[in-house]
Amino acid sequence: MSDLVLHVWRQAGPGAPGRFERYEVKDVTSDMSFLEVLDVLNETLQARHEEPIAFDHDCREGICGACGMVINGRPHGPRHATTACQLHVRHFAPGVEIWVEPWRARAFPVIKDLVVDRGAFDRIIQAGGFVSVRTGSAPEANVVPVPKTHADRAMDAAACIGCGACVAACPNASAMLFVGAKVSHLGLMPQGQPERYQRVGRMVEVMEAEGFGACTNHGECMAACPKEISIDFIARLNRDYLRASFGAEG
Ligand code: SF4
Ligand code: FES
Repeated sequence: MSDLVLHVWRQAGPGAPGRFERYEVKDVTSDMSFLEVLDVLNETLQARHEEPIAFDHDCREGICGACGMVINGRPHGPRHATTACQLHVRHFAPGVEIWVEPWRARAFPVIKDLVVDRGAFDRIIQAGGFVSVRTGSAPEANVVPVPKTHADRAMDAAACIGCGACVAACPNASAMLFVGAKVSHLGLMPQGQPERYQRVGRMVEVMEAEGFGACTNHGECMAACPKEISIDFIARLNRDYLRASFGAEG
């Protein structure tokens, strides 16, 4: 058991001024997850009739992408390929003070404390993150052959959990890694071919309208991504976008 010092960004609402507040959390164990530390802190705050810290979370298993926050200057914290909910107290050096703040990006406005509005990602998905198929009975397995290499790459892209860490890490607040992953996991499969180029055009158009910045190849997105999505998918997105610009149809 030890005590932990947290500096947490507190902001009452959108547009309200924010500030870091210093908190001491008592009796923290090395096996506690970072979100459990926030839970304990919130119980203490509630017992004192103070406003608990608002933060996003859902699965707490590293699969839903809800738990985005910047911890000691890094999206999802200091541990490689790990979401904030899978970060544990043992991953911090003893005695370290921890600074926690929300994603910083124009397209992700702060709602309260550590919670940001990631609706911009939803609108990008609504623009093209789907395939149009005839409904009916399930097709025979293996009717549509998929090369193993394509299936593997599509699965790599589909690992994106939509957390937004790539945007938070990028100096331009670019969403290209997210869009590259979402375009690629469909565009690599036969089922994604009929709308392949309309999809990339529509998703990039919405991405730009939402206020995300341009990609200038810093690579911070890949370094911060908890699912290790490769920037190769940005190159693939650019190639498909170029073809779409020259009138490719699909
Ligand atoms: S590409 Fe990675 S960092 Fe970006 S939204 Fe997807 S999982 Fe999160
Ligand atoms: S709470 Fe679902 S990924 Fe962290």
